[in-house]
Amino acid sequence: MKKEKIIVTSALPYVNGIKHLGNIVGSLLPADIFHRFLDLFGIENIYICGTDEHGAATEIAALEENLGAKEYSDKYYEIQKNIYRKWNFDFTFFGRTSSETHHKTTKEIFLGMHKNGYIKEGEITLPYCKNCERFLPDRFITGVCPHCSYESARGDQCEKCGKVLDPIELITPKCTICGKSEIIFKEEKHLFLDLTKLEGKLKKWLMEKKWPDATKNFALGWIKEGLRQRCITRNLEWGISVPLKGYEHLVFYVWFDAPIGYISITKDAELKGIIKDADKYWADAKIYHFIGKDNVPFHTIFWPGTLMAAGRHNLPEYVTGYEFLNWEGKKFSTSKGIGLFSDEALELYPADYWRFYLSRVLPEAKDSNFGWDDFQKRINNELIANYGNLFYRVTSFIEKNFSGKIPEGKTDAKLHKQLKEKMDKIEKLVKNVKLKEALDEALAASSITNKYFQEKKPWEGSADNALYNSANALRIITTMLLPFIPETTEKALSLLGSEKEWSGKFSLKPGQKIKSEILFKKIDDKEIEKAKKYRTKYAKTISEKGIDEEDLDIRIGEIIKAENHPHADKLYVLEIDFIDEQRTLVAGIKQFYSKEELKGKKIAVLTNLEEKEIKGVKSNGMILAAGNSIITSGLPKGAVIMQSDKKITIDDFGKHEIIISGNKVLCDGKILDLIPDRKAKEGSRVS
Ligand code: 2FM
Ligand code: ZN
Repeated sequence: MKKEKIIVTSALPYVNGIKHLGNIVGSLLPADIFHRFLDLFGIENIYICGTDEHGAATEIAALEENLGAKEYSDKYYEIQKNIYRKWNFDFTFFGRTSSETHHKTTKEIFLGMHKNGYIKEGEITLPYCKNCERFLPDRFITGVCPHCSYESARGDQCEKCGKVLDPIELITPKCTICGKSEIIFKEEKHLFLDLTKLEGKLKKWLMEKKWPDATKNFALGWIKEGLRQRCITRNLEWGISVPLKGYEHLVFYVWFDAPIGYISITKDAELKGIIKDADKYWADAKIYHFIGKDNVPFHTIFWPGTLMAAGRHNLPEYVTGYEFLNWEGKKFSTSKGIGLFSDEALELYPADYWRFYLSRVLPEAKDSNFGWDDFQKRINNELIANYGNLFYRVTSFIEKNFSGKIPEGKTDAKLHKQLKEKMDKIEKLVKNVKLKEALDEALAASSITNKYFQEKKPWEGSADNALYNSANALRIITTMLLPFIPETTEKALSLLGSEKEWSGKFSLKPGQKIKSEILFKKIDDKEIEKAKKYRTKYAKTISEKGIDEEDLDIRIGEIIKAENHPHADKLYVLEIDFIDEQRTLVAGIKQFYSKEELKGKKIAVLTNLEEKEIKGVKSNGMILAAGNSIITSGLPKGAVIMQSDKKITIDDFGKHEIIISGNKVLCDGKILDLIPDRKAKEGSRVS
């Protein structure tokens, strides 16, 4: 049998700015844990990551710092690399998409796609600055918003009223590069990847995948809607120029070149002498992509589509699609200072505390939450009280009573068997990319050993055997925890005089010297209260924003009762269950739905509206409906679609635009996890 080889990748972080903890938990950390386990299991693998550097966002960020895009990227590549070193991410190589190899690889792949007939030409209308003599990306244009008359609306969105815009809609559009109003709209030829041709092949490939349900269904959803041609070129300077006659003035769209970075960074690792034969790796290794759910379509449709079109047959084996991490119940928001950034976190606590905590709340199947109190509790009670104390109790006992030498003993068959079972379980879980559960098992192994130690009561005499067994168990548990908290466990292994070794053997020999040390420091209440007050230094002032993005609270509830309103013909009084509470609300949908139709339906409800009395019945919340159709959901009741702690008025609600677009519901331009009822019309506004 051919030896198994694996390529592990984390989403390549955009080079602009510093990444917050959401980026860490959604790809960098789990990829690192997976890679470290594979190393322990003796499976040949590489962990590839690097900065994703091209695109308009980088050009704009560079302009803001008064730097060229290249200088800007050089600067932030180094900054990010340094931060990840402190997090102990064990990349085989951390490269960049601005490298020469990357330019070359992207062009080769594109030319392969072109030769195979998957590249098409088409025309699009784009803004053009006559003064600068260049086409402008949407974000390089500002003008007056046609909806709210805000003067500095961007070509893609108005920050004041939140509406999504097309540059052509702006009144008196201006070029942000030269500041002049000399913009015209010109047709230009661009290149498209013809995904329609690949639809069947992609679907077949996807159907066979054993991925997390949400990831797979999301990808299949795209296919179901029908794949379209996708424009892969852009009018920018900072990027990879298109190697085709008549298109040399364009660069590739950043999402076209970014995933190719996985290949080119592997090649750069070879050029640096870190690995051998990058091409061979990409020809036959199993590819595991660790990404957040926002990157799913790019990795499950466009990227494999690109590979197929280029005639490359080794497609991704596994794509994770992690859900999001919330911050104290709210979405991360740089502008509001909600959340914490990867550099700041390490100023507050050691990397292993963060790695441990984030691994405990890894958003594998659903969004998860960071809470300071929870952080303190888990670090103190789970990491320190369980593993940290076990380490100290066993090693200090040996140090004090046996001058640091492991005493004579006979392997305890029961303990040994229990630990061996945990190891096997962990190995299986990791191979199925169930990292959170793997950590559960490692902690359970630690609890078992704590219990063993407690029951043997070595402090009452005849301690030799108990300590021989406990020390050996400790080595195994430390190894199980290594991928999660590498810094501490590597130190612990060296204190135990042991190498990294994934083996259930009781390999610490009687007479062997060990050392004791307190591995962790408990987090006390005063400290956590101080941490709670920490505000990210990257926060922008709220006034820069127009409407408040986070003032809607929308949840899924199930209609458990529908009755006629006692004093109004057109109204129902509904009883809605949200699991943690039930609410009564009045809804004007009697003409469109019968009571029977409504019962059991899971619907979206605006839950933070001030209470209102409607014809003598108190109503707490509002059903979201577009015209005569209610908005339903495939999600379980209690699911939170948007979250806010504020109470709002109906006028506040009116500032937001919730509309039906195709089979999606958009809120201020963002897709919500909701389904419009079949009757709902395209473009209709939700109220
Ligand atoms: O969402 C992001 O942060 C992207 N920079 C991820 C790119 S992943 C890969 F395709 F490069
Ligand atoms: Zn201009």
